[in-house]
Amino acid sequence: MKIDGVKHNLVGRVKVPGDKSISHRAIILGSIAKGLTTVENILISEDTFRTIDAFKAMGVNIQIEEGKALIKGVGMRGLKKPNTPIYCGNSGTTMRLLSGILVGQNFSSTLIGDASLTKRPMDRIIHPLTNMGAHIKGIKNTYPPLDIEPTDGLKGIYYEMPIASAQVKSSILLATLYSEGTTKILENKSTRDHTEKMLKLFGSNINHKGNLIVMNGKYELHGNRIFVPGDISSAAYFIVLALLIKGSHIVVENVGINPTRTGILSVLKEMGANIRVFNRKLVNNEPVGDIEVKYSQLKGININGDQIGRLIDEIPIIVVAAALAQGRTMIKGAEDLKYKESNRIEAMTEELNKMGACIEALPDGMVIDGVKELKPAVLISHNDHRIAMALSIAALATNGKSYIQGYECINISYPDFYTTLSNLLNDV
Ligand code: S3P
Repeated sequence: MKIDGVKHNLVGRVKVPGDKSISHRAIILGSIAKGLTTVENILISEDTFRTIDAFKAMGVNIQIEEGKALIKGVGMRGLKKPNTPIYCGNSGTTMRLLSGILVGQNFSSTLIGDASLTKRPMDRIIHPLTNMGAHIKGIKNTYPPLDIEPTDGLKGIYYEMPIASAQVKSSILLATLYSEGTTKILENKSTRDHTEKMLKLFGSNINHKGNLIVMNGKYELHGNRIFVPGDISSAAYFIVLALLIKGSHIVVENVGINPTRTGILSVLKEMGANIRVFNRKLVNNEPVGDIEVKYSQLKGININGDQIGRLIDEIPIIVVAAALAQGRTMIKGAEDLKYKESNRIEAMTEELNKMGACIEALPDGMVIDGVKELKPAVLISHNDHRIAMALSIAALATNGKSYIQGYECINISYPDFYTTLSNLLNDV
């Protein structure tokens, strides 16, 4: 992909596709609920198709019509043994959340992934699920493929989260649906709570007491009507580009602003960004709003471990903002970035430094000293959708032509990214 920097600013109103995390959860809960679930504004992308195809392979009728999914839920016990291993592609969310459901089934199953997913750690779900009584194994008990065998029964557990991970938390909560007794999860650092919110919507017995989640299993779920808000992780690219290019002024409409996801807005505001959230409402228990952004001069700040869970997927684009901010930005407590679709600490450091940025990689983050401008370069996506999109934004903030090799991986979460971007760019 060739990207031509300069000579434009970003003006107008934009809608981003449905939230990826919420879309996965709607497909999962809709499939095991009783009756019809409709999911409007569902994200249609490679990752969500992995979850859709997984449930189709287990006998669930799912139809996609004009951005809407119609799911004929089969009930908690209605899934059928798939004929082949379930291919989760690049999607950690599919593999980790699905494992929580599959450990409760009376059939065996195998979960496989692509080259990137096959290198991602699964011990983080294998340990708690095994404590619940599940029979789940990976290669060296750490990596996919995962083999799951039926068990005599699952039981609720008390689990203090050793890492901040919504996928791990969600996997345990989904297994709890099939468990006797109560599960209690203590989260010392908050992470996205879409699973909790949606379980409640579908009729589950789940409650929050401070940072303790308490859930009882063996409740039947009931089909629902879901509207998926726009994905703040996709909005983040346009928000940062508008901040970086003089004269820009945009409104991103109908974005999910769940406080467990808005770390990016807090961080950018602290950096001096002119951002306003308005038209706030609650849709299916999820806060939604419009986000207005105007060009701003940014300054460096410190981002620490307590904030990471609320902005984990936005760090690549935050690094782009920090690379062009005044002064130093320090990101710490983000070791988990090494285990995402790529090693995001390494990928962002290597690629932005090619453009003249001043970034030092740390074992758990980065030190970024802001520079006045970035230079065009030939950049590599590391086959990671969020790296490809963050680098595209960096390339647009230069004075020339850059190339993004391997840009096609944007299809994982945002197939229309470049079309929407070019519609927003105004020649000046
Ligand atoms: C997700 C949780 C996060 C995030 C991922 C989506 C989810 O992963 O990075 O893109 O939908 O639960 P971790 O739970 O591994 O932090």
